[in-house]
Amino acid sequence: MAEVIIVKSLDEAGELAAQHITSLIQKKPDAVLGLATGSTPLPVYKALHRRVQQHGVDLSRVRGFALDEYVGISPDHPQSYRTVITNEVVTPLGLNPDLVQTPRGELAGIRNAGERYDADIRAAGGIDVQILGVGTSGHIGFNEPGSSLGSRTRVTTLTEQTRIDNARFFDSIDDVPTHSITQGVGTILEARHLILLAFGERKAEVLARCVEGPVSSSIPGSAIQLHPHVTVLVDEAAASQLVHADYYRRAFSNVPEWLAES
Ligand code: F6R
Repeated sequence: MAEVIIVKSLDEAGELAAQHITSLIQKKPDAVLGLATGSTPLPVYKALHRRVQQHGVDLSRVRGFALDEYVGISPDHPQSYRTVITNEVVTPLGLNPDLVQTPRGELAGIRNAGERYDADIRAAGGIDVQILGVGTSGHIGFNEPGSSLGSRTRVTTLTEQTRIDNARFFDSIDDVPTHSITQGVGTILEARHLILLAFGERKAEVLARCVEGPVSSSIPGSAIQLHPHVTVLVDEAAASQLVHADYYRRAFSNVPEWLAES
């Protein structure tokens, strides 16, 4: 079962995730992070930034793989995930840009780009911690409803819902790409630890379906239930439709000493 932690604020969620990531990096300075974009992971990156600035945490050897990329926009487009990861993660956290990859969304070579990306992840020894958000469509990465739970990194068609949700980053909805290249659900499930975050009322229904609903390709985020090590960090609003919320609260606030992480 996923460990579900209901937090009071986005900052608290960011701190808990950053705490975990920095303790991993202390043990393994060249750890491999799976990096999500969008609004949800920003508190994590902000908390990591504070640790870099205030505690001198060194992330220069950390390796990274973005979850996804739009197809058909150039890597230096302001809304390409390459640019977003550079501006929100690589530069502020002092990562080495040569050690951070995004899937290749250019049309040239797109047919084999997914396979090459999965091979690069494997060659890096796999992803240690994968940071995830969830879309209102139920997607993780850009695995839209109907995605095989065993899918690999590949090109997907974005739902209209996802294009509408992401139009806020573009001048108009017409500028939002129609396709993405995304780590597959099967690729995501190979990461050693998944940290899924969700905030706000808008995510409440889909979050409940991911955590407590049946595992189904109709809600690709429900695939996290198949993973042995998942941490779900949610605020009260996103947790509002969880049937077992009280149980999650009790489990988190009463971790016996013999079970606590050393
Ligand atoms: C981003 C990604 C998506 C987002 C999801 C939620 O790399 O893969 O699955 O995590 O669309 O987006 P936000 O966080 O903007 O609500």
